Amino acid sequence: MTTRITTPFSAASTAAEVVDGLDLSGRRAIVTGGASGIGIETARALASAGAEVTLAVRQLDAGERTAEDIIETTGNKQVLVARLDLTDQASVAAFAEGWDGPLHILVNNAGVMATPEMRTPEGWEMQFATNHLGHFALATGLRHALAAAGGARVASVSSSVHLRSPVVFDDIHFRERAYEPWSAYAQSKTANVLFAVEASRRWADDGITVNALMPGVIHTNLLRHISEEEQERLRAAVAVGDAGLPVKTVEQGAATSVLVATSPLLAGVGGRYFEDCNEAEPNQPGNSRQGIAAYALDPEAAERLWQVSLDTLA
Ligand code: NAI
Repeated sequence: MTTRITTPFSAASTAAEVVDGLDLSGRRAIVTGGASGIGIETARALASAGAEVTLAVRQLDAGERTAEDIIETTGNKQVLVARLDLTDQASVAAFAEGWDGPLHILVNNAGVMATPEMRTPEGWEMQFATNHLGHFALATGLRHALAAAGGARVASVSSSVHLRSPVVFDDIHFRERAYEPWSAYAQSKTANVLFAVEASRRWADDGITVNALMPGVIHTNLLRHISEEEQERLRAAVAVGDAGLPVKTVEQGAATSVLVATSPLLAGVGGRYFEDCNEAEPNQPGNSRQGIAAYALDPEAAERLWQVSLDTLA
C-alpha cells in the first residue's frame, strides 16, 4: 500500500496560493488550451512564479490576447504563444518538432466535453481524439525535451466524469455502440488517468512524473457543446446541491493542475489522481462525483491503452 498524498491545500485554494513562495525561474512550461478557462489561470500562476510559459492554442489571436494579459498582470514577459490543434496530427507533430531545448512542465489541459457525434478525418471519435490521442501524441513527441529537463512534470487534466465509463477497448470509437456524448467524454477522461499511470512507469528512468487530476466544477466555455436545456438542468442541479460539488472560481479550478505541475510535496510522485489539491480516495459505490475509479488506475488497462494509442497513431 502506498500512502495517500495529502497537502495543506483544499478545494478552496487558488492557483496563486499553491505557487506562493515557489521560484520557477529557468523552468519552461506548456499549457494546452491556455487561452480559455482553467488554462488561463494555470498559465498565469506558472508565469507569476517566474516560469517561461507557452500557450499552445488553436487560435493564435486569442492566445496573443491572453499572453498580453498574463504579461501585464504578472510582469513576466516570457509568455509565448504557439499553434496547436490536438485533432490534427500534423499540427501536433509540427508543434513537438518545433520545440527546442528542455521542457520542465507540460499541462495537458485542453479538452472538449459532451460534443455531438463528431469524427476526425481518420474516423476517430472527437472527444477521445482531442482529450486523449492528441495529448498522447504531444507528450510522446516531447518526451526527449521532458527527459532533458531532469525531473519534468506532466499534469493530465481529467475529470470526475471518468467515473461514468472505463475505456471500452472493444469499441473506443463508437462504431458498434450507439453514440452517447457523456460516455464518450467519460471514456476520454479515464484515458487521461491511464496515460498518467503508464507514462510514469515507462518514463521513470528519465525522471518524468505524470499525474492526473480533477479540477473541480467551474463555469467555463466547456459547456458550449451542451444544449441550453441541459445547461439549465445542470445549473439547477448544482444550485440545489444535487451535483454534490461546489462550483469553484477559475483561480480555484487551476489550483490542482498547478499543484501537480509544481508542488515540492509531489516530488517523485507519479501515476496518481488528485482532486481538490489532494490525492483522491478510491471511489465509493454510490458516489458518482468524487474519488478515483479502480479501472482508471489499472496498470494492465494503462499498458493496453498505450499500445492501442501507438497503433492508432501509427
Ligand atoms: P474551456 O472550454 O474553457 O477550455 C478548453 C480549451 O481547450 C479551450 O481553449 C479550447 O480551445 C481548447 N481545445 C479544445 N479542442 C482543442 C483542440 N483540438 N486543439 C487544441 N485546443 C483545443 O474549458 P475548461 O473548463 O477550462 O477545461 C479545461 C480542462 O478541464 C478540460 O480538459 C476539461 O475536460 C477539464 N475539466 C473541466 C471541468 C469544469 O467544470 N470546467 C470539470 C472537469 C474537468
